[in-house]
Amino acid sequence: MSLPANKRILSGMRSTNPKLHLGNYEGALRNWVDLQDQGYEMFCMVADWHALTTMFDKPQEVAYNSREVAKDYIAAGIDPEKSAVFVQSDVKEHAELHLLFSMMTPLGWLERCPTYKDKKQDLGSAEREPYGLLGYPVLQTADILLYRPYGVPVGKDQAPHLEIGNDIAGRFNSLYDCEVFTPYKYMIPEDESRATLPGLDMRKMSKSYDNGINLSDSDDETAQKIKSAFTTPTKIRKDDPGIPEGCAVCQYLKLYSPDWETQWDEDRQGLRGCMQNKKELIEVINEKFRPMRERRAQLDEGEIDRILADGAERARAVAEETMRQVKSAMGLR
Ligand code: TRP
Repeated sequence: MSLPANKRILSGMRSTNPKLHLGNYEGALRNWVDLQDQGYEMFCMVADWHALTTMFDKPQEVAYNSREVAKDYIAAGIDPEKSAVFVQSDVKEHAELHLLFSMMTPLGWLERCPTYKDKKQDLGSAEREPYGLLGYPVLQTADILLYRPYGVPVGKDQAPHLEIGNDIAGRFNSLYDCEVFTPYKYMIPEDESRATLPGLDMRKMSKSYDNGINLSDSDDETAQKIKSAFTTPTKIRKDDPGIPEGCAVCQYLKLYSPDWETQWDEDRQGLRGCMQNKKELIEVINEKFRPMRERRAQLDEGEIDRILADGAERARAVAEETMRQVKSAMGLR
């Protein structure tokens, strides 16, 4: 497969939690690693300012989380020699471009955004709704366009933000009669079972439900979580028939076990019990993620400091060039 001339890829995750879970990995991070290994030039950002839209009262926690998230990127296979790993707030151009974009982005685009509508509803009153929340996709657009990337690999929940981003790019070019920005590709996993890996209770995987396996969980923590996972409720004895489509353990087997088809068949026919499914799942998951956990355990704080400083420097080089082009197109000093 030949690579495009522009090989730059930008992506990021908010540092609202110190630990990424398997949903983050399957939905996005795993694609970053694949793209890196195919030879793309990756910029892997930790979005700490975005985390502040909901955690403005806990900035120290966000700062702590940001380093932990960077460790998870590296543990998952992002190689800091090849890819730039950096924290958003270390590259001030993100704030500058966000401000310029905020002047030219129609409010309607932001008010219509489904992720904004959901958050707004959760908050209830405008008195509790920070100004920055509405601008969330504008900041994300600045994150992306600063790197003038070929594509942006994200989980499917991010699609509305990516669309606003390309709309802002088009608006900028037409307002200032320039071609500073080229539309970027949305790189969203097509495989449904990866894109929407359910939680261990079959609800949406979410930190707030505590129903996910973290990349950095130990073998024992993983085993404990899988032992209490949701299975077919009507499968009480081991020879009762199961319904793998609705069973969290079977969903995970499909993703991680090479023998999942046999396992599903036997589950359906009542030829195996949930305990056996769980035992086999614990084995395959621990085996798959053990190398990542070991890599994570070896990272020390000094090394993370160096990686993030170097990543920010590489990011800044591209971001500064984009800002020169932006200001020149707008005729600003
Ligand atoms: N909104 C993304 C998320 O919640 C994080 C993010 C911030 C991002 N800036 C980005 C993702 C730029 C891709 C590109 O996960």
